[in-house]
Amino acid sequence: MTTYKICLLPGDGIGPEIIAEGTKVLDAVGARYDVSFEYETALIGGAAIDACGMALPEETLETAKACDAVLLAAVGGPKWDTTDPEKPRPEQGLLGIRKGLGLYTNLRPVQIFNALADASTLKPEVIDGVDLMIVRELTGGLYFGMRERFYDEEGAGTGGAKGQRAYDTLEYSEYEIERIARQAFEIARKRRSKVTSVDKANVLETSRLWREIVHRIHDAEYADVELEDLLVDNTAMQLIDRPADFDVMVTENMFGDILSDEAAQITGSLGMLASASLGDGTALYEPSHGSAPDIAGRGIANPLAQIMSVEMMLRYSFDMGEAADDIRRAIVATLDEGWRTGDIRSTDTPDDKVVGTAAMGDLIVERL
Ligand code: IPM
Ligand code: MG
Repeated sequence: MTTYKICLLPGDGIGPEIIAEGTKVLDAVGARYDVSFEYETALIGGAAIDACGMALPEETLETAKACDAVLLAAVGGPKWDTTDPEKPRPEQGLLGIRKGLGLYTNLRPVQIFNALADASTLKPEVIDGVDLMIVRELTGGLYFGMRERFYDEEGAGTGGAKGQRAYDTLEYSEYEIERIARQAFEIARKRRSKVTSVDKANVLETSRLWREIVHRIHDAEYADVELEDLLVDNTAMQLIDRPADFDVMVTENMFGDILSDEAAQITGSLGMLASASLGDGTALYEPSHGSAPDIAGRGIANPLAQIMSVEMMLRYSFDMGEAADDIRRAIVATLDEGWRTGDIRSTDTPDDKVVGTAAMGDLIVERL
């Protein structure tokens, strides 16, 4: 029997509740496919700050590196919210582990579940057929550039007005753009062979470099794939105007962060968006949503994005495509039967079809 070691990072808020449904589904899949999943839980985010004063303890990174895959739930919460640059923030845990594991490719699939079509704020004819993959660069750009906050004694550049100043830097190297572009083209070849590269080349130098390199890689290695360039502001508009036209969308870290929340809303709920973060070693799987501190501990959070991250783990880390398809079918069946968590219920969902986190996990397992 094959044994896989999974590093579990429950994190904060609803994290512990939803990750339990992820492992419930993994265990059920393991039993069917004669694979055993062993878990090692480690600290990250606010939970780690409380326990040891930092968002990503060295031990957590070591545990993650030693495992075959990482399943993360969510980090953050009002308890650790601060604008003080000296204080640790839960998000540093997430950014640290992405960087520490070299996870430069973030995949965020946006798909419509027919049963949830009415959960979208967009018209049914607009969202019909939406199936896009956001490929977000995850270890470069504004998130990891030089930054500083300081007191400006001179008031340089502000006509002598003294006060605090701050900057963040957006930087990309040719190598970083090349490898993410290749990932996007490879994925497109397995889908509908179309890549939309999103940038702000009318203003930013990094974007002009981005565009040049994406085209060079395309022309030399992937001329069979259709490539279009789109400015990020225009993309934000086109995404809600013609979402079904997109196949693969590749973009830098922060543009991808923003556009993936927007794209998730096309499906009606951020609670339905999973993600995979891949590099050259251990990969990490997590829902794209946050820790929802407002509903934490109440057993009502939607575990489906977490369960879909398990689906992605099976596909990308363990080559268990069939098991991943089983999970997808179970989710579709559960939704088709009308079962909903609160975030995806509609006005005509009967009360007795609204279930909590654990019950939703059970429904999926029963239908596997
Ligand atoms: C995401 C989140 C994170 C990000 C935060 C929590 C740091 O918004 O995964 O999209 O900005 O990458
Ligand atoms: Mg985000």
